Amino acid sequence: MTMAALAAKRVVTCDASWPGILGAIDDAVVILDGTHVVYVGPRARAPAKTPLIELGDRVITPGLVDAHTHACWLGSRHGEYAERMAGRDYQAIANAGGGILATQRIVAAASEEELAEALCARVRRMATLGVTTVEVKTGYGLEPAYERKQLAAIARVASRADVPALLPTLLALHALPPSAKGSPANRAAFVASMASELIPEVARARLARFVDAYVDSGAFTTDEARIVAEAARREGLGVRMHVGQFADVGGAQLAAAVGALSADHLEHISREGIAALAAAKVAAILLPVASLTLGQPPPPIPAMRAAGLPLVVASDANPGTAPTESLPLAMALAVRVYGLTPEEALLGATRNAASALGLSDRGVLREGARADVVIWDLPHEQAIVQPWGVAKTHRVFVGGKEL
Ligand code: NIG
Ligand code: FE
Repeated sequence: MTMAALAAKRVVTCDASWPGILGAIDDAVVILDGTHVVYVGPRARAPAKTPLIELGDRVITPGLVDAHTHACWLGSRHGEYAERMAGRDYQAIANAGGGILATQRIVAAASEEELAEALCARVRRMATLGVTTVEVKTGYGLEPAYERKQLAAIARVASRADVPALLPTLLALHALPPSAKGSPANRAAFVASMASELIPEVARARLARFVDAYVDSGAFTTDEARIVAEAARREGLGVRMHVGQFADVGGAQLAAAVGALSADHLEHISREGIAALAAAKVAAILLPVASLTLGQPPPPIPAMRAAGLPLVVASDANPGTAPTESLPLAMALAVRVYGLTPEEALLGATRNAASALGLSDRGVLREGARADVVIWDLPHEQAIVQPWGVAKTHRVFVGGKEL
């Protein structure tokens, strides 16, 4: 077992058992035993036997957790992006067969190996930015056969030792596949088959931990999303929901009613929606890159904060609305555009992100946690949200293994 004892001017535990919002400790040591954290605390109290790796002025944090990505895709939608920047509407492009359907055609035509290769390269680039756990949604297959192919590609990459930890989500309702268009009956049959066939199958094969649905105008209704969410719960899977990206159609109330782990996007949400999420302890996953490229105003952060919603920041990495792989960029925008404090942004990409994924073994540095650790080439944790668009990590450990 390789031990690593890391000593730095500042260790940010994100663990509530230390004082301060982020539980930061000056002149501190983190010891990893190969898979887990075995010591976190002041240098003066660190066990003497392991030789210290002196990291000087650098700051150490838990590995970042990206709790909302669509990272399993191929192709490029640069033409569409240019059109959108020139004023064409995202939903109009989608209605004309572009958007999600444009990526779906490429994913449908690709092999599982090609998808896995692209995903692998992408999540390894994410790791260089400090990300050690990535939630990965399907939703570019749409047809069951292609959704299965995406899940198989995700499983293939997840089994590798040289990538961040991956948590697969079946995005059961993202867009209607061409075969399900044409009549309300086809549409209803598509939703029903997700609930009665694909979700149980995927749960049995343990190919996904969560089921997601896109509840919005021009996407799926609350009644449709409820059908797949209830199927997910019956099969023991967690529920996540895209809510209020374009319009408030009651997705937050539904997320609360079905016990979702998170409601994501939330640019359009009412007071009642916020209260429902707060009462049901549903995390709010904020995706500032998407709202920036869509030219939307931020979600009502002060009201969310006042209601005590756990705030999470994620990249939304996808080829359409969030053309980035960088969670630190999303954190920087969460501060600049959404008005989060740097502390809120960091908690939103560590402890709160992990707990929105149902994980208590990461997102914090504490004895017994997974050895997911980032050493930053930065003097302070507040600096993580400042340098945009460059990797500022010095070393990244995933489950004790250095990437
Ligand atoms: O989270 N909201 C829907 N899904 C993605 C966008 C997918 C795409 O444009 O490819 C999102 O923004
Ligand atoms: Fe998304």
